[in-house]
Amino acid sequence: MFRVGVDLGYGFVKAVSESGERALFPSVVGSGGPRALAGLFGEKRASEDRYHVVVRAFGAAFGGSPAPEERFVGDLALRESPDASRAFDSDRADHPSTLALLAVALGLLAGDRGPAHLGTGLPLQYYSGQKERFRRALEGFSAEVEFLSPSLGKRRASVGRVTLFPQAAGAFFAQLLDESGRVRDPDLARGGGLVGVVDIGYKTVDFLAVDVGDGLAVRDRLSGTLDWGTSAVTRAVQRQIEAASGRVVDAVAVDAALHGPGVLYVWGAEYRVSEMARDARREAARAIADHLELRWGDALGLMRRVYFAGGGAADLWEHLRRIHPAAQLVPDGQFANARGFLAVAVRRERRGA
Ligand SMILES: Nc1ncnc2c1ncn2[C@@H]1O[C@H](COP(=O)(O)OP(=O)(O)OP(=O)(O)O)[C@@H](O)[C@H]1O
Ligand SMILES: [Mg+2]
Repeated sequence: MFRVGVDLGYGFVKAVSESGERALFPSVVGSGGPRALAGLFGEKRASEDRYHVVVRAFGAAFGGSPAPEERFVGDLALRESPDASRAFDSDRADHPSTLALLAVALGLLAGDRGPAHLGTGLPLQYYSGQKERFRRALEGFSAEVEFLSPSLGKRRASVGRVTLFPQAAGAFFAQLLDESGRVRDPDLARGGGLVGVVDIGYKTVDFLAVDVGDGLAVRDRLSGTLDWGTSAVTRAVQRQIEAASGRVVDAVAVDAALHGPGVLYVWGAEYRVSEMARDARREAARAIADHLELRWGDALGLMRRVYFAGGGAADLWEHLRRIHPAAQLVPDGQFANARGFLAVAVRRERRGA
């Protein structure tokens, strides 16, 4: 089976396949219709056409209707769907958006290679409550995805096998295992002790402590979710610009400027968003550090390493590194969960598990 790791975040979907292909797109779903489609098909567009899709053949899983439905996803939804919204509320297993996002991720990376072995995760706070339902829904997953990009065309995305973890655990496995599922860091695997993982995302911060002794064990009491994410920094900058300009400013545009040119033009005025974000980031990092110190308490002092992953880790790293002398910024941190899910899926198959 072709193996794919997919991290369905509140902000962005991250996906990586065993052949090294990747996808990153906003977790946004909106209604799609034939009128918009007709116009779009007639246009030549850049490579981001990859994310311009229509998803059909919704099954009963994820609360989708049995009738065909059309959805725009990712950047297309942001631009073209009047009702585009961030895809998730608290329930992944029953959410129709899960299906649309997954269909696109699998369609892009697994193409028509038949049912995929999907490595994926649930937010830590919902893991125990939803894992069985989510797994069942995923195991029956099948959808038809039509991409606007002619080189991709119409594809069938389906799941043959599921490997499921709490999201932040993916980042841990990305450090432990390489892409072929072999242990890349024997010291981490054998050395014993506690390892902390902090996954800083768009809407949440997941933290996890793993006991690396005889096998691996997650320490429940030292693991949890903090309701804070990078979107708070974006909102702070957005508010500053709105106050200064007296205009409504789009959060997506602010986020894009923060991770692109560092400046945003609003009605002719230039706003240096990177500088505007500085204070918000410092405050954010302090809030996260305070929370971790509170929740981890004495255990923090006993940790061998503390990994910081997720799309928001790099932005806050200069402040967060002070929390522990063995703190490490996970390289390619936004993809860490997806890479870890993939590595475990590959490892399980190789060992015949
Ligand atoms: N190239 C990039 N594209 C998009 N976001 C980026 C990029 N580089 C850094 N980021 C930051 O990463 C953040 C999203 O991080 P991430 O993808 O880990 O969140 P998520 O997993 O969707 O959210 P959550 O974990 O709360 O569900 C963005 O809000 C942005 O601040
Ligand atoms: Mg995440």
